[in-house]
Order: sequence, then structure tokens, then C-alpha cells
Amino acid sequence: MKIVNTVAEVREQVKEWRKQGLTVGLVPTMGYLHEGHKSLIDRAVADNDRVVVSVFVNPMQFGPSEDLESYPRDMDRDAALCEDAGASLIFHPEPSEMYHDDFSSFVDMSTLTGGLCGKTRPIHFRGVCTVVSKLFNIVTPDRAYFGQKDAQQLAVIRHMVSDLNFGIEIVGCPIIREEDGLAKSSRNTYLSPEERKAALVLSRSLKLGKKLIEDGEKDARKVIAAIRGEIEKEPLAKIDYVEIVDWNTLEPVESTEGEILTAMAVYIGKTRLIDNFIK
Ligand code: PAJ
Repeated sequence: MKIVNTVAEVREQVKEWRKQGLTVGLVPTMGYLHEGHKSLIDRAVADNDRVVVSVFVNPMQFGPSEDLESYPRDMDRDAALCEDAGASLIFHPEPSEMYHDDFSSFVDMSTLTGGLCGKTRPIHFRGVCTVVSKLFNIVTPDRAYFGQKDAQQLAVIRHMVSDLNFGIEIVGCPIIREEDGLAKSSRNTYLSPEERKAALVLSRSLKLGKKLIEDGEKDARKVIAAIRGEIEKEPLAKIDYVEIVDWNTLEPVESTEGEILTAMAVYIGKTRLIDNFIK
């Protein structure tokens, strides 16, 4: 496995593979990799002849008061995980390689990005769409892999690929959880032992909501109220949002019938965590 830092090196390698008629999968990440990322790499290795993992903490998708500086980084561990999983290339650029001083083009989606996480993170999806477009243009993969953990991001990327004719197959992968239910996240490392316990309220309350729906509750407002009630019992938790939306349009729904996304963002202390289920 190779680790490269420049766009030119990625292009050269991919050109070589293309000459040999090989297929290429891309797994975009911000590093500090865990089992969730690994599940994407495993799937990409199974589907493609060669797999590129990008490791880039993208400054453009962080708001001014967010955790860009403190975002956890461990390139040696990431490289070992990618190598074990069977990736062929890590692309690990410096911010200056991705954004030259005169950088001025953005991919800004006018639907799907205003609600859910977009409310508290107004510039986030512009940063995600812009960097993912760049990665698609640099790597030109056949397929790219995204986790359902970031369900809105997955929906946004699928829509962007269709709008802009990227001709790349987007593969959505299920949420990987800790044994006790907490969705794996690089940001879980911020949690104190006490907060780590409190963080279980996300998966616990979602499970409760899912059960209500399975038992026949059709009123989305009632399901949201039950989920909120469960979260509010936890003193360390502060709700950012709990919403039930149509999985295709991400617009709020009144009924739990059809294909819906139940999603939440909850602060545990200072750490903002997200979780969801789709049914
Ligand atoms: P990052 O948070 O590092 O996540 C990289 C990919 O791993 C995303 O597609 C995310 O949904 C997936 N992932 C994270 N935790 C997961 C889990 N527990 N189960 C399954 N998949 C999981 O998402 C980003 O980086 C960035 O926004 C990026 C797309 C790289 C653009 O900068």
C-alpha cells in the first residue's frame, strides 16, 4: 500500500491501474479510522480491484466555532488499518494541496442541505460537496462508499452525483455500533467516562422510537415526542434536533408510513453526536 500527498501522484497511479483495466473504489474519510470506516473499506475491497482511501480533515466543512483544530488525528494507526483491510492507496493531502490561495469554486446544493444538520451547521454541506467533488475528479473512481451514519450526507452526495453527472456509483453502508449500541464515531474519543455512558441515550431513544413505529404508531409527532422524552431524562444530554423526514426529500413527514429517516443530533456535554435509523 502506498501513501501519497499530491493530486499528481494519485492521478498517475489511477492512470496506471486503468491501463491494466482495473476497477477503482474510493472511501473518503477524515481519518482517525474505526470499525465504521473499516466496514466501508472492506466493502470497497470486495467490490473493486483497487481501493483508494482519502484521509483529509477538510477545513471547509467546519464552522468557525467547531472542532477543526482538535479533530483527532493518527496517521500511523490509519495507515495500518487501511493496509490490513486491503486498501491499495491512501491519499493524505495537506490543506494547501486541496485549496490553493486563490480557490474560489464551490458546490452548493439548494435542496436537502437546509434541514437536519444543515440548520446548526449552515456551511457544512457546501464544504462536504465541494471536497467530495474534488476527490471524485482527482480519483475518478467507479464506486464511492459512504456510511448511513451520516444519512443526510449520503442523501446529499447521491443527489449531487445525479445533478452533476459524475457517473460514479454511490454505495451506502450500514451503521456500525459499539456492543452497547453507541454508533462508532471519531468524535466519541471526546467523551469522558461519564459522558460515554450518557451517550447511550441516542441509540436507546431511537430503539424506542423504532419499536413504537413497528407496533403501529403512525403519528410522527408522537414518535418524536417519545424519543425527546427519553433523551430529556438524561441530564448530560441537550437535544439539537430530533426529526422524522422522508428519506428521499428529507422533508418532515406527518405519518410514519413509507420510507422515512428518523434522525437526531444531541450534545453530550460539549460533544455533538448524531444517530438515525431508516425504515
Ligand atoms: P468521516 O466522519 O471520517 O466519515 C467517513 C465515512 O465513514 C462517512 O461516509 C461516514 O458516514 C462513515 N462512517 C463513520 N462512522 C460510521 C459508522 N459508525 N458506521 C458506518 N459508517 C460510518 O464523513 C466524513 O468523514 C466527511 O464528511 C467526508 C465525506 C470524508 C468529506 O470530508
